[in-house]
Amino acid sequence: MTGFPGGRLFPMISWQTVCGDLSQWVKEALSDQPVRVAHLEGVVRRLKDVPESLLIRHGFAGVECAAAAWCHDIGYAAAAHWTGWHPVDGHRWLDSMGAPAVVLDAVLYHGGAFSQAKLRPDAGRLVPYFEAHPCRFPAMVELITACDVTTRHDGGPCTLAERLEGLVVRYGADDLRVRHFCLERPFYQEAVGRFLGAVAC
Ligand SMILES: [Fe+2]
Repeated sequence: MTGFPGGRLFPMISWQTVCGDLSQWVKEALSDQPVRVAHLEGVVRRLKDVPESLLIRHGFAGVECAAAAWCHDIGYAAAAHWTGWHPVDGHRWLDSMGAPAVVLDAVLYHGGAFSQAKLRPDAGRLVPYFEAHPCRFPAMVELITACDVTTRHDGGPCTLAERLEGLVVRYGADDLRVRHFCLERPFYQEAVGRFLGAVAC
């Protein structure tokens, strides 16, 4: 991927190192963004609403679900900055550490990020990144998406409709993120229905 100039050379951090205390590492990386951290804590809490039998059926260990939830927005960290868009920046940072594919997929693809990449002004540079990193764990992407879209930006639980209302209030009805949310709503509804049942539709 060469579309973005000035690719960051990350310091040598291994996934094993950050995994020692992942939540603490994430909180430190986002220490200047407390609301973001509150959102991540809320998404991790949301995971508890997912029946364990569903996770087992998909072959997911609780620890990797928690890692994906904690890391899905890590691309907002200043240390991850590359393109300025968090799914790609977070994926690239964690990939440099050797994070497992199931976590990397959740970071890059959560929330229908690939379809949003195609709508963004820099689509010509973002889309090839996705094409170079195809999704191998769509069920994990759905799981994290379901928890993400039913957690407010400040961490409280919400319905899909309330999440959309929050985006409109923060960004305005014409914002690309709002338009993309409406476009992806059927996917969100399916993901929420599959993993959270009637909890948050
Ligand atoms: Fe999120």
